[in-house]
Amino acid sequence: MQTYVLGIESSCDECSASIVLHDHDRHTSRIKVLSLATYSQVALHQPYGGVVPEVASRNHLESIHPMIDEALRQSGKSLGDLSALAVTNRPGLVGALLVGVSTAKAMAYALQKPLVPVHHLEGHIASVFLDVDESQVAAEFPMLVAVVSGGHTNLYVMKTFPELWPIDFLKKSCVARSRDDAAGEAFDKIAKILGFPYPGGAWIDKTAREGKEDAFKFPRALPQKSVLEFSFSGLKTAAALQAEQLRKTGEFDARLPDFCASVQEAIVDALMSKVEVAIRQFGCQSLAIVGGVSANSRLREKLAASWKSLGLHAPPLFPPLQYATDNAAMIAAAGAYRLRQGHGLHGEAMLTLNALANPEL
Ligand code: KG4
Ligand code: ZN
Repeated sequence: MQTYVLGIESSCDECSASIVLHDHDRHTSRIKVLSLATYSQVALHQPYGGVVPEVASRNHLESIHPMIDEALRQSGKSLGDLSALAVTNRPGLVGALLVGVSTAKAMAYALQKPLVPVHHLEGHIASVFLDVDESQVAAEFPMLVAVVSGGHTNLYVMKTFPELWPIDFLKKSCVARSRDDAAGEAFDKIAKILGFPYPGGAWIDKTAREGKEDAFKFPRALPQKSVLEFSFSGLKTAAALQAEQLRKTGEFDARLPDFCASVQEAIVDALMSKVEVAIRQFGCQSLAIVGGVSANSRLREKLAASWKSLGLHAPPLFPPLQYATDNAAMIAAAGAYRLRQGHGLHGEAMLTLNALANPEL
């Protein structure tokens, strides 16, 4: 069976639309991305050093229709070809989410098609299955999935394909989260201290390539193997103090690459050590890393080199870079999986769908 799903993502500072084809029968399932159009608001928020919610929602209003038009154009499909629409309705900036949700509701109503509400993190997890035949990963469950983004550092033990996820999958299978800052938030806050533009994760990654990762000793919080939690706020404080010291002695510019490499190593080590604990504790056969921080080159490099010693049977799965940061293809995919489970909304239930800033996971 073939279903075409239009996905819409507007939870933060990316306005994105995508059309995917879900090709499935009793034995196979494959999501093919037919188009992806994303407008990034990064330049708009850069002068403020972070995302300004009101600026984000106003800009989504302007870009959402051009993105949908572009996604349709690239795919060669028309609105009439769609089987359903999917939209991120939780969690995120509520004003930003509402732009996507209202647009999707209006379209679904006018087209008389089902609308699937999507949890943003289910979207990130779906990003590793885009353009992949699910039968290729059939033998690798349980899979540990690390969602490492600007807002989350969560580990999930995934026992089945996304199509078989129970409705409370995120709540039931979360085995670790951060006590304070998310990994991406730590990258961004430290990058801000160093004077990089927002969002700073990719800048630290790039600058670190010229530096030595053991040049500075930064803390790795919660080293006990018995603790399955992350914490990055201590690292941020240590980095702020060290940066101040370097500025005082006039060494800041010369040591910036070493500084970035050392900070990045501390974050990557913290992620890897808890990933290892979870793999062993829950007997995971495979590992997927998703979310914006999964784009980090050092994280990819270290995991590619050490997956066997983590007890895994296969190299870790990463989404292709264009699907690592926020995008609508992953939302369309998660929507297609939920659609197949019968979670498309119609009528009253569709019209009363709301955006939720902080749903209980
Ligand atoms: O998933 P995402 O696009 O948005 C959220 O759902 O939060 O993730 C954005 C985060 C930002 O914190 C950004 O700095 C980080 O991903 N990021 C990176 C890299 N590219 C993006 N962090 C480290 N290294 C990178 N190469
Ligand atoms: Zn995200």
